[in-house]
Amino acid sequence: MNKKIVALVGSTGQLGKLIANALLDKGAELRLLVRAESRSKVAELEARGATVVEGALGANDADALKALVDGTWAVVSAIQGGPDLIVDGQAQLLRAARNANVHRFIPSTFSLDLFKVPLGHIVTSDWRRQFADLAESERGDVEVVHILNGGFLDRSTLFGFIDVINPETGKAHVWGDGKVIEYWTTYRDTALYTAAAAVDERELPRALAVKGEALDFWGVVAAYEEASGKKLEVETLGSMDDLDALINELSSSGMDNFRKFLPLMYYRSTLNGEGALDPLYNDLFPNITPMTIGDYVRQEGL
Ligand SMILES: NC(=O)c1ccc[n+]([C@@H]2O[C@H](COP(=O)([O-])OP(=O)(O)OC[C@H]3O[C@@H](n4cnc5c(N)ncnc54)[C@H](OP(=O)(O)O)[C@@H]3O)[C@@H](O)[C@H]2O)c1
Repeated sequence: MNKKIVALVGSTGQLGKLIANALLDKGAELRLLVRAESRSKVAELEARGATVVEGALGANDADALKALVDGTWAVVSAIQGGPDLIVDGQAQLLRAARNANVHRFIPSTFSLDLFKVPLGHIVTSDWRRQFADLAESERGDVEVVHILNGGFLDRSTLFGFIDVINPETGKAHVWGDGKVIEYWTTYRDTALYTAAAAVDERELPRALAVKGEALDFWGVVAAYEEASGKKLEVETLGSMDDLDALINELSSSGMDNFRKFLPLMYYRSTLNGEGALDPLYNDLFPNITPMTIGDYVRQEGL
């Protein structure tokens, strides 16, 4: 494979840093868009040969975006933010990529299958859908590939934000019967698939779904118990109708309770199967062996 230049936005973030290192490991030439005040966070990447364009997404800085994307094979975004970044900022980046004849654009989607989740069910997914729709009409010849990884199989998400399992309290939480398959992939593996997709010369699916683990809630509990040797207390928090009612109540006052209702929204679309990953494309990348829940629990000593 020829050495490819890849531009990355969000390289100082949790996922972005892993994507950056995975791209460098693959021998790609890496160009980063970094806010001036965040420059020190990419010292290690610069030491590994990455070059930096100082600038911010959403700043309407056409010169910085041009400098970032000119001559690149792919542009990857791993940013986190509101619609000003996810929709407008990424739209500016896509237009710059199109004008520079970039081959592939991977936006900051990284979620369950938000193309199947009804609009209004997850606020932050709606913004990504909005960008995806805009990208279809504005991409020109750029191939836009959304990486779908389910939820992050990490301390911060499965064992944190979504609170499926809390290793501190020894409790697992579920709404409804928990009998629908859920999809979980570590940050690290999501980054490996993203880096592989970024430099791939094949045509790739628009919704590139990959998974580390696919189990229903009871399988997730069993995998944790087996790997940790600890028994969990399962708390059923209510029916799926109860979950709908709680989300409606919490979101009725706009974004005031955002941090409370957002994880519930993600968990609802996980538990009711509307965000299921199907078809999966792990087989396109046979060199990547993603971690299972058991692998992760053992590695982290959870
Ligand atoms: N599927 C899941 O379970 C799950 C869970 C969590 C996150 N995610 C998704 O994964 C993606 C990455 O999340 P993360 O947790 O890695 O995010 P993160 O750690 O918060 O990183 C966000 C990145 O965006 C950069 N950024 C923010 N505003 C910017 C701007 N205006 N211009 C340029 N860069 C800007 C930050 O740079 P600075 O260092 O300058 O602030 C940072 O590099 C997001 O799409 C997120 O929704 C998915």
